[in-house]
Amino acid sequence: METPFQNLLYDRPELYEALYPEENEETPEMCRRVFRDYLAQPPRSILDIACGTGRDIRRLRRDCTDCTGVDLLPALIDYARSQAPEVSFHFGDMRTFRLDRTFDVVLCFGSAILYALSNEDLNQTFATFAAHSHPGSLLILDCRNGAALLGDGFRARMEGEIRVGDFTAHWIAEQSLNRRKQRLIRKRTWQFSTGGSAEDFCEYRLLFPLELERLIRSAGFRILGFFDNMKLRESDFSGPTVYLIAQRMAEGEAA
Ligand SMILES: C[S@@+](CC[C@H](N)C(=O)[O-])C[C@H]1O[C@@H](n2cnc3c(N)ncnc32)[C@H](O)[C@@H]1O
Repeated sequence: METPFQNLLYDRPELYEALYPEENEETPEMCRRVFRDYLAQPPRSILDIACGTGRDIRRLRRDCTDCTGVDLLPALIDYARSQAPEVSFHFGDMRTFRLDRTFDVVLCFGSAILYALSNEDLNQTFATFAAHSHPGSLLILDCRNGAALLGDGFRARMEGEIRVGDFTAHWIAEQSLNRRKQRLIRKRTWQFSTGGSAEDFCEYRLLFPLELERLIRSAGFRILGFFDNMKLRESDFSGPTVYLIAQRMAEGEAA
């Protein structure tokens, strides 16, 4: 399948992990806290949708033996399998895949839902969340905060360098907004110290807090917590990333 984005870090998963190591397991730790706060017992099964390198789900495998990850990109799934053979990994498009079973917890991190660009893509993705959950299942997701990005959070140009072992590369990212379509468009150029280069391209849907709430409720979930920070503290939603915790309702149950 042709993907509508290109990212050097997805072609080279070891670079993704080196760049975002989460040495203190920030995301799994947030999940563990949510499990303690909102589940009567530890989860018996966890599904990580758009799991990337499998960084989070393989760490959560310590808390739950039945762990599954799904991602669109074969290179990432191959890498994820090599790192954690005990986790079940599958290729799949978050809009359409069906594993024909449900999980106590469904995760979707790293702003992956923002790859669902159209309203139809989003509806389909939330239908996938619902198809893999049962009454009482938790859904935990994060995404860049559209409300902050359209304010002070927007940067037209960013630049940096990564060093991973012998690999060094300088990158420049240029961002623009398509306000009509609610999209952030990013082009990134990599210059390698060895002389090569690479070009990345992606578009992210901008989602706003009330849109997310509507999507969650329409898919049959009730919102348990909604924050603009990983500490899950009440704030003013000016933070760059939002974190949403929801629970699947039973048929006919009021939110
Ligand atoms: C920034 S990465 C996040 C990976 C991981 N969740 C994490 O937080 O480290 C976004 C991921 O979304 C995946 N992705 C994008 N579109 C997808 C789709 N339609 N279905 C499944 N995965 C998708 C990409 O392949 C990539 O692994």
